[in-house]
Amino acid sequence: VGNGLAKTPQMGWNSWNYFACDINEKVIKETANALISTGLAKLGYIYVNIDDCWSEASRDSEGQLIPDSKSFPSGIKDLADYVHSEGLKLGIYSDAGAFTCQKRPGSLKHEYDDAALFASWGVDYLKYDNCFNLGIEPEKRYPPMRDAINATGHTIFYSLCEWGVNDPALWAGKIGNSWRTTNDINDSWASMTEIVDINDKWASYAGPGGWNDPDMLEVGNGGMTYQEYRAHFSIWALMKAPLLIGCDVRNMTAETFEIISNEEVIAVNQDALGVQGRKVLAYGPDGCYQIWAGPLSRHRLAVALWNRCSKIATITAKWAALGLESSTSVSVRDLWKHEFISPNSMSSFSARIDAHACEMYIFTPTMAIHSAT
Ligand code: GLA
Repeated sequence: VGNGLAKTPQMGWNSWNYFACDINEKVIKETANALISTGLAKLGYIYVNIDDCWSEASRDSEGQLIPDSKSFPSGIKDLADYVHSEGLKLGIYSDAGAFTCQKRPGSLKHEYDDAALFASWGVDYLKYDNCFNLGIEPEKRYPPMRDAINATGHTIFYSLCEWGVNDPALWAGKIGNSWRTTNDINDSWASMTEIVDINDKWASYAGPGGWNDPDMLEVGNGGMTYQEYRAHFSIWALMKAPLLIGCDVRNMTAETFEIISNEEVIAVNQDALGVQGRKVLAYGPDGCYQIWAGPLSRHRLAVALWNRCSKIATITAKWAALGLESSTSVSVRDLWKHEFISPNSMSSFSARIDAHACEMYIFTPTMAIHSAT
């Protein structure tokens, strides 16, 4: 897109997964406060993104969008000012169609007016959805909003939400900072694992400036176990997915906080190299013993051992599967236990992994000791 944003995947919070249409300015402000008071903002979660349902059901007499007078009586500019005063950024939502998915006015054919309005409010991020699209190809509907945003002179993160229609990884890099690769996630193991596998196919198209988006996090919403949420977060981080928290951060459990605040896992996501990790091997029953890996800066390697079976198992990553020379020795950092562990054999690494659990490591090649030649 050339707007200089998204050098690493975006991090923040979005209202949809937990609140759906039940949003208001108080919730948004309290969420911003909570991101600060919990320390999540310091870890990088800076976008506070309002999703669908913020606007009135129709435009005003001049054709402008208007914030819902009951739920956002102070308006979006006021909210942007508030969020900015805390050092955070505000995101808003619209749709490349006649209506949003919840039947609020869409921005198709209103791109320049709406982008100018968002910019005048000080909005920093736009999620642009795909409902009521009149059967027009996304390749035609998404560029006009990029051009309209650029014309405002304001820098606005542009997040395409067209659910993977027409394989956006192949063309959206010039249009947006991220593009959804799948249908909506829901708060279940089945949905999360299905989405991961679809998103994985597009790994080679992600990089600084534009990322594959397998949808927002469900961690903390109650439909998965602790281990499943940890796997969800680990793999999103490794896949260089946007880390957009989708729970109520004002009322998180300690376990939820532990997962989304894991600095070592976040650092994998935000690594400067910006290469999407991928599934490098699936073996065992139905391929449910999985090894996911991807390169990091400074010759390091992020490695995840993920047991997608329903019984505990030992998973082994051989150096060949990871693309390492058989003579390479590595130090192994466990990103969930927060400790270095001793490699348990030459040329491979094994661990006992609980059902549905995903353990995550950084391998750092250590200098081999050679005799002088
Ligand atoms: C679509 C999007 C979701 C959410 C809803 C809001 O389903 O994919 O992420 O924005 O619309 O209506």
